[in-house]
Amino acid sequence: MFHGISFPGHLHTQDSLQRALEFEFQDTDILIVTYPKSGTTWVQQIVTLILSKGDPNLSQTVPNWARAPWLEQYYFSAILETSSRTPRIITSHLNHQLLGPALQGSKAKIIYVSRNPKDVVVSFYHFHKIANFLPEAGSFAEFLNQFLKGTLHFGSWFDHVKGWTSQTATMNNLLHVTYEEISLDLHGAIKRLSTFLQCPLVEDEVNNCVEHCSFSNMKDNKMVNYTLIADDIVDHRKGSFMRKGKIGDWKNMFTEEQSQYLESVLKSKMQDCMLEFVWD
Ligand code: PPS
Repeated sequence: MFHGISFPGHLHTQDSLQRALEFEFQDTDILIVTYPKSGTTWVQQIVTLILSKGDPNLSQTVPNWARAPWLEQYYFSAILETSSRTPRIITSHLNHQLLGPALQGSKAKIIYVSRNPKDVVVSFYHFHKIANFLPEAGSFAEFLNQFLKGTLHFGSWFDHVKGWTSQTATMNNLLHVTYEEISLDLHGAIKRLSTFLQCPLVEDEVNNCVEHCSFSNMKDNKMVNYTLIADDIVDHRKGSFMRKGKIGDWKNMFTEEQSQYLESVLKSKMQDCMLEFVWD
């Protein structure tokens, strides 16, 4: 537990979490922030490809956690020390309440990625079933209740999304993108992200990025599909990290009652949030 939020113990320590809050960002840094299962790996891949002008070499030879390491995980400083790449791509699942102070005054470019919470909780549920380092998932109904209460690892989805997206009005170095808009228009999303990163691409380069961050391509790429992780940590026989990659898979899992319940919680918890959420 750290500041009332639980984190997976095999990757986080009190020390690594505390160091994240005290991290000194450089203005050239690119920070990808997400609540888990919102499109983190996808955007890590997209940003890597944009910076490489569509050349897939780096994205096919270096694992995502080494080229876009998580700020709060214990191995972060070791990776940063050995890498000389600039700009640095840094990833975080921390909420704004925790990480905001470290970013005060920084010009680091922040990409916040959100996803329909119904698809997030379904993806997270399936991941709990294959990830041996996470608690037992239990039934979907139990898992959903924990998600809505904010007691799963990484805390409340509502606090996370509200905390980060409420900054978009005042922070011009923060771009909010959704999993859904990337999914519906990958080409357009890559162009938007490359503009934000001030890394303009010609059409052929955009097309190369599109090819190498498609779901089918990433599912076969060991550097992003987590098959490099040993079976005792992620049990690949039970399912894959690159599971479905679809919008609206929640419909295969939620009952009508659960769907309505989540919407009522969403309405009450997000009433002071300026964003309008439109999901299928
Ligand atoms: S994590 O563990 O927080 O880093 O997970 P994260 O990467 O945020 O989310 C995993 C889900 O993203 C899907 N994904 C993709 N969808 C579409 N296209 C591409 N290229 C892609 N890459 C990853 C992945 O399949 C997980 O979603 P689900 O719904 O479980 O399939």
